[in-house]
Amino acid sequence: MRKGILTIAAVGLLTTGGLTACGDDSGDKAASAKTPKIGVILPDSKSSARWETADRRFLEEAFKAAGVKYDIQNAQNDKTAFQTIADQMITGGVTALMIVNLDSGTGKAVLDKAKSQGVATIDYDRLTLGGSAQYYVSFDNETVGKLQGEGLSKCLTEKGAKNPVVSYLNGSPTDNNATLFKAGYDSVLKPKFDANEYVKGPEDAVPAWDNAQAATIFEQQLTKANGKIDGVLAANDGLGNAAISILKKNKLNGKVPVTGQDASTEGLQNILAGDQCMTVYKAVREEAKAASDLAIALAKGEKKDTGQTVKDGDRDVPSVLLTPKAIYKDNVKDVIADGYVTKEEVCTGAYAKLCADVGIS
Ligand code: BGC
Repeated sequence: MRKGILTIAAVGLLTTGGLTACGDDSGDKAASAKTPKIGVILPDSKSSARWETADRRFLEEAFKAAGVKYDIQNAQNDKTAFQTIADQMITGGVTALMIVNLDSGTGKAVLDKAKSQGVATIDYDRLTLGGSAQYYVSFDNETVGKLQGEGLSKCLTEKGAKNPVVSYLNGSPTDNNATLFKAGYDSVLKPKFDANEYVKGPEDAVPAWDNAQAATIFEQQLTKANGKIDGVLAANDGLGNAAISILKKNKLNGKVPVTGQDASTEGLQNILAGDQCMTVYKAVREEAKAASDLAIALAKGEKKDTGQTVKDGDRDVPSVLLTPKAIYKDNVKDVIADGYVTKEEVCTGAYAKLCADVGIS
């Protein structure tokens, strides 16, 4: 069943890849003559392990397989650096620029500049609101949030929690994905708050998804709630781990379910230890491949029909949205089987036995 979900995602992607190019109807003959060179700007390396451990790796894999030139850089959460890198890439002759914006304002400035210089643009993972990217490649992010809400609810039920107090650690207020994740988990949890089945506890957005700040914020939430928080909707594994560190300090870890996202090594280990309820696995290899295919097509002056659009104000942005998958203790092995993380990374030291217990051999 769970395998089935992955298969659907892969098929969806194959379909995208197999779609016909609409041809060079832009009249831009120069574009069709360009040899692809793709620039990628990653956002940081601290808000999630994924950017350096998964995205960089899978983007490189896709570019190498396609035999195209590329330049992948990381802005390290610095908006000025982000713009400088973009300028250097444009001057350096990239044919396509893929960005994971730090906020929509600077993202838009970079996209507009690239466009004015005839460089193709792709919003990778995060949509730039009011932007001008030719494509948006991501996951169905509202579904990511829905899986988190359902996961928390499942774990609270398993703990036999009665009228649990649920706190929120939302993602960065400047990340459109954080808004979508929240819409997803609210769609599951708000009806429960409204029905007085659950009690809404403290809610905070974590600036720039800063994991260290998240720990401070969660500690304040716990104090504010007089120590009574029964479940934590944390928007990714880094924020989840921050909450778990404070729960540990208060000897509450394992008692209070915490959610996550990204299927990071740390997140998976927290799940095996029983400190984290679930995570959401996003097959970044598929995301990187889809974005790479589109960037190469654009460099050749082709336009691909992705068969899907996302609304950004009045604009319909052609999009590829992949399917996320919920991970609990019993299917941690699927993430390893998919080659996203290795058994050696996850099953170290004390985790070796926990891995064996859930059939990771
Ligand atoms: C991504 C998440 C990531 C978060 C923090 C979001 O835009 O979709 O996968 O955990 O940013 O980097």
